[in-house]
Amino acid sequence: MRAVIRGIGSFLPADIMTNEDLSKRVETSDEWIQERTGIRQRHIASEGQYTSDLGYEAAKRALDDAGISAADIDLIIVATSTPDLTFPSTATIIQEKLEMHHGAAFDVQAVCSGFIYGMHVANSLIRSGGAKRILLIGAETFSRILDWTDRGTCVLFGDGAGAVVLEGVEAEEAGVLQTFIRSDGRHRDMLYVDGGPSRTQTVGHLRMLGNQVFKHAVTDIAQVIRDCAEQAGVAVADIDWFVPHQANQRILTAVAKRLKLRPEQVISTVAYHANTSAASVPLAMDCAVKDGRIKRGDLVMIEAFGGGFTWGAALLRY
Ligand code: UT7
Repeated sequence: MRAVIRGIGSFLPADIMTNEDLSKRVETSDEWIQERTGIRQRHIASEGQYTSDLGYEAAKRALDDAGISAADIDLIIVATSTPDLTFPSTATIIQEKLEMHHGAAFDVQAVCSGFIYGMHVANSLIRSGGAKRILLIGAETFSRILDWTDRGTCVLFGDGAGAVVLEGVEAEEAGVLQTFIRSDGRHRDMLYVDGGPSRTQTVGHLRMLGNQVFKHAVTDIAQVIRDCAEQAGVAVADIDWFVPHQANQRILTAVAKRLKLRPEQVISTVAYHANTSAASVPLAMDCAVKDGRIKRGDLVMIEAFGGGFTWGAALLRY
């Protein structure tokens, strides 16, 4: 059994916040943000629009793209660190919105690496026969956990959602070829949220030592891609498309350079979406599928790095 991506979709809230808008809130400039991150704008969820709403819209688009309905899905996995509520899971809320009253749904929490972790779980379940069709969604409203007075973090993130329908098919070499996940809790203080139900009974705000995270990200991402490709028995040079987590254009460029990938092989949406955490990889991949760059049969490497630290990669034949 192989887990093949049968459909893909994404959704961005309508409201756009530009760098210029941000410069009216904190001491920053369009020039600084673009030069240091590549970000020009980000989408922000409107009042009353929740992570489950973004995830639901992306899910519907992925189901439409696959030509199936929620009735054909047996499991929903939502990767998010900004759930609607502490519980129930955002996955069960989306399940209800989809009027899906069978199967199961749960959340995965690995911050920006959530979609890769979710794919690792989904791939394992499909390959072992534990599920036939899985709706894997990355959905976030990071705007709700930002400290809008901290220019070092509030300029970096945006809201959005992306989803894929993974289906088990009997094939030799198709779909997800390899997944590889890592974490190291020693670095948890470099990127975290300073609130939570058990410790503070608050939601808290995102805190980050940006330049420290940057250094770890470049090194660890390059290594995990090499490890993932090696386990799959594939040379990095054979990868057609690189769909990285969209945190910072400088990280994307540095990783691509280390792996000797050409700039035109790198799918970059960071300028328009900023960092949407667990939603960033499926959002970027959907853009490249819809604009015709990623085609059926292409070899695609996806990766992410985030709080924990968590990081990982997945290699797939689209
Ligand atoms: O998705 C999870 C993973 N997250 C990441 O991968 C993010 C990784 N980190 C980064 O992307 C970068 O480190 C940042 C974009 C966050 C920061 O860029 P940097 O080149 O590492 O800058 P820095 O943190 O070393 O700060 C340089 C200067 C500082 O001023 P001083 O101390 O040199 O006077 C900051 O205070 O830039 C200042 N600064 C800003 N200036 C204008 C920080 N944020 C801003 C800002 N506007 N928004």
